[in-house]
Amino acid sequence: SAAEKGGFDWFMLKEIDEQPRAVADTLLGRHSVDGRLQLDEMRLSDDELREVDKIIVIACGTSFYAAMVAKYAIEHWTRIPCEVELASEFRYRDPILDKSTLVVTISQSGETMDTIMAIRYARQQRARVLSICNTNGSTIPRESDAVLYTHAGPEIAVASTKGFLSQIVACYLLALYVAQVKGTKYGDEIASILAEIQKLPAGIQRMLDEGDQVRKLATELAGSRSILFLGRHVGYPVALEGALKLKELAYIHAEGFAAGELKHGPIALVEEGLPVFVVVPPKGRDQLQEKTVSSIQEIRARGARTIVLAEDGDEDVVPYADHLIRLPKVPTLLQPLVATVPLQIFACEFANQLGHDIDQPRNLAKSVTVE
Ligand code: G6P
Repeated sequence: SAAEKGGFDWFMLKEIDEQPRAVADTLLGRHSVDGRLQLDEMRLSDDELREVDKIIVIACGTSFYAAMVAKYAIEHWTRIPCEVELASEFRYRDPILDKSTLVVTISQSGETMDTIMAIRYARQQRARVLSICNTNGSTIPRESDAVLYTHAGPEIAVASTKGFLSQIVACYLLALYVAQVKGTKYGDEIASILAEIQKLPAGIQRMLDEGDQVRKLATELAGSRSILFLGRHVGYPVALEGALKLKELAYIHAEGFAAGELKHGPIALVEEGLPVFVVVPPKGRDQLQEKTVSSIQEIRARGARTIVLAEDGDEDVVPYADHLIRLPKVPTLLQPLVATVPLQIFACEFANQLGHDIDQPRNLAKSVTVE
């Protein structure tokens, strides 16, 4: 009913709108004012965490893209090698696991069969399994050694939105906690990054408040048969997620690429008028911003219609952006939490223009309980 949807036409719109709260709820009660993390509920002792020498993050669908984002943060803060794997591929490649491997699974529903089978396999190999999950008491947390709940509230729409953002935040809390326990050289980043994470709900709210320009763009582009998404570093999984949302909701060809790979193939796809979203990393010492700006120049020179997501104050992108979506200034690792929001809004409005059922796209299920 309309009441259940909180006045929105679709659950998905309601869930997009709830994201500032969802992220705040993932953080709630998990850190003290002095910037120390407390994750006592998760049932893994500090000694067990200190033994971990490899982390493998496993998930499906949108949760897999959260895992891809998480890898950057996990390796950076914990200094523990981290792999990311699709649940449906994991146990078929004879993976190397033992009791010092921490397998982290990410699942909104807690009922995805591919992920459950990966957990069973990992535990047979004596790895420890920690699940990041949104559904209390579901199968995945019950079958895991430890659990960190995302607390995003029930997600009804098939396409995941607040689930995704809260999963990234939960992974970051885990990574920072392990860094705190291990005392890595990045330990002193914990308090400052936590302070930045606390500001995220406001940044996400701003992206919601500025949603009209994205909806207008979706109306203009609703005739497109193909849309590309480019990003680098944590912006790469954001590009993949932006493309997945369009596939799921609009049933058009949409593909995400690592911007640096453009020249190795995808640039051949660019033709006159092709819409291409580009997520531009914040300016930093790593030159990723500059390299992404030159990718934008290259595709635009070949006729692409560029839709650029760039932080406030980034003026380098202005000459090459047919449409410019501004993002609040945040540390690179946090950018997915603000940059994903306009892509969600875009996909919803695009599908709405085509008259599709936003909450229940054809052929898809909210949780896939078969392998
Ligand atoms: C299905 C849903 C996706 C979801 C994926 C993983 O394919 O349609 O939206 O991302 O399952 O679900 P999970 O509940 O494990 O996160």
